[in-house]
Amino acid sequence: MSIELAARIPAQRVSDWVRACPKAELHVHIEGTLEPELIFKLAGRNRVTLPYASAEALRQAYAFTDLQSFLDIYYAGASVLITEEDFFDMAWAYLSKLHQQGAVRCELFFDPQTHTERGVPVSVVMAGLTAAVQRAQTEWGMSVALILCFLRHLSEDEAQTVFTQALPFRDQFIGVGLDSSERGHPPSKFERVFARARAEGLHIVAHAGEEGPPDYIWQALRLLKAERIDHGVQAVQDPELMRHLAEHQIPLTVCPTSNIKLCVFDTLRDHNLKVLLDAGICATVNSDDPAYFGGDLMDNYLLPMQALQLTPQHLHTLAANSLRASFAPPALVQQWLTQLDDCTRAFASA
Ligand code: HPA
Ligand code: ZN
Repeated sequence: MSIELAARIPAQRVSDWVRACPKAELHVHIEGTLEPELIFKLAGRNRVTLPYASAEALRQAYAFTDLQSFLDIYYAGASVLITEEDFFDMAWAYLSKLHQQGAVRCELFFDPQTHTERGVPVSVVMAGLTAAVQRAQTEWGMSVALILCFLRHLSEDEAQTVFTQALPFRDQFIGVGLDSSERGHPPSKFERVFARARAEGLHIVAHAGEEGPPDYIWQALRLLKAERIDHGVQAVQDPELMRHLAEHQIPLTVCPTSNIKLCVFDTLRDHNLKVLLDAGICATVNSDDPAYFGGDLMDNYLLPMQALQLTPQHLHTLAANSLRASFAPPALVQQWLTQLDDCTRAFASA
């Protein structure tokens, strides 16, 4: 096993090695990849007026105190997305960046209700995103899939409505998730719409335990039957839950830079990523909303490494976990894991 070999990678080569490692990004909201410059370009193209004078002025406003303070500005940014081309341009810009960071797989969240509420039909959203997904596959052989997220601050009836609107495009997404304001919106609110998604054979994930209590993680697992938990960092408050996550290898898609920007932890030195890994939990690292939080996928490996003194073995484990936790076909996952071993061996012996 090459994980032991990871220990031999010289410090000055760690960044190149992480970039070269095959890995998956499993927690990124496509609307959260919209950079201020692209927001302004699309606003101009669609004649949308923004309450900011420039991309720089908009970026200056990115000082968040909690999840809600971010969401308010994130939904405002998404208001420039109107046409199929807009959705394509946004997804293509992000996948291009991710490709340069060595990602072989990406499972992209999208929030159709953010767009249908403004009169943009699901068909337009799907056409633009699917075109970018397919181009990433043909151009670089990158494996990309879409996960439809329900906005938990809205009602279950509204989730049911958007799910019905999305069903004609059932073959263009692989799963459903739950995002937006967590506190006061427990997973139990969405039991019926998730049951419907399971009946359609869709994968199930849910944001839980970002700001909310461990009980929301239990609810996501027991009521929604989530296969993966997005964030999940509050699990450390509940030893039984920690044991359950480790025993059943239920992956957590942790987002370290997001957690700092939204004040879930004061600093990266206070983050519990190492605690989760050392407890044997299948933790992965991800960027969440990189345009708003300023950390790309590579940063989410390298910055916690410095702050928490993670070893190269921890980083190898994070990359391997990301591949194992993905919903890609098992044969493909196995192929990537072999490539990851080969990559670590090559850097250890060079
Ligand atoms: N949490 C909840 N909802 C979100 C997030 C997040 O980190 N990013 C985009 N929508
Ligand atoms: Zn998220």
